[in-house]
Amino acid sequence: MIEVSRCSKSRIEQVDFNQLTFGKNFTDHMFCCTYDQGQWHNPRIIPYAPLTLDPGAKVFHYGQAVFEGMKAFKDDTGSVFLFRPDQNIARFNKSAERLAIPEFPEDLFLEALKMLVNIDRDWVKSGHGHALYIRPFVFASENGIAASPSARYEFMIVLSPVTAYYSEKLKVLIADHYSRAADGGVGFAKAAGNYAAQFYPTNLAREKGYHQVIWTDASSHEFLEEAGTMNVFFRVGDTLITAPTNDRILDGVTRKSIIELARELHLDVAIRKFSVTELLEAYHSGDLKEIFGSGTAATISAVSAFGHKENLYMLPEVSDCYADRLKHALQDIQYNLGKDPFGWRLKI
Ligand code: COI
Repeated sequence: MIEVSRCSKSRIEQVDFNQLTFGKNFTDHMFCCTYDQGQWHNPRIIPYAPLTLDPGAKVFHYGQAVFEGMKAFKDDTGSVFLFRPDQNIARFNKSAERLAIPEFPEDLFLEALKMLVNIDRDWVKSGHGHALYIRPFVFASENGIAASPSARYEFMIVLSPVTAYYSEKLKVLIADHYSRAADGGVGFAKAAGNYAAQFYPTNLAREKGYHQVIWTDASSHEFLEEAGTMNVFFRVGDTLITAPTNDRILDGVTRKSIIELARELHLDVAIRKFSVTELLEAYHSGDLKEIFGSGTAATISAVSAFGHKENLYMLPEVSDCYADRLKHALQDIQYNLGKDPFGWRLKI
């Protein structure tokens, strides 16, 4: 049973929904639940507010934390929908297991999502590009700096009204030194530290004029795996290629939705390893038509150019752009503008 305590006055009037910076504004309420003595208890929705934590809390020392990214959308009649929440809930618990964090009960997770988004539903704006970004996360809150799993955790959900994550096409640099993930590691999980570890190499790429890094396999830097905070797709001729997921690659919900939509649109999709050598060959032969990233925050973000070593390769403008077609197809489902043949929308 989720206890609800509402804020006395909404902050919504203070927010300019036409000038949102991604992830900077939060809604009036948040969901919290605490784990100790071997169980989750005290699920509650309370006014959004800062936390008080002991400096000895394990999350500050060992980074035992995972998160999810999901979105809610509003249609023109005011109905609000979650997009494939079951997928994020399952992935959250897979990530938690790898970080030795206790699973969060799936039913309670979904109930909390629905209740919280419903309470703050005025913060979900209708209209193209608007969404409510949902950030569930869990962290180790036991006080003590022995390097061992925490006995206490806080699970929370916060909500942030957003528009596009990237406002322009991306220039990406192919990694040939740093790595994001390794075999047997935590690359598949949404572990907080996976993102922190990207900041330094991404800053170096930014200094060279790039927005993001395309991550390659750690051992040879030959196989293209992810693009910054996104999965990555390459269109060679009329085939859309993306790497198979493994323990280094995030099993992206947008990635798998794109694969299903592409097949529905009768596009040729190949889920296979794709090498830098093949990429450069396709570029030089003129067969490389598009590169785009996919993710909850970024939706589908087109790449305008990629760098490898000291070379910059500009991508052509294409007619019949797959990224645009797939983005429309995806958003038609998300915003309830069309049929939902896969049953991905959940009305709340
Ligand atoms: C998402 O796309 O939801 C993510 O978690 C990426 C994050 C860096 C915004």
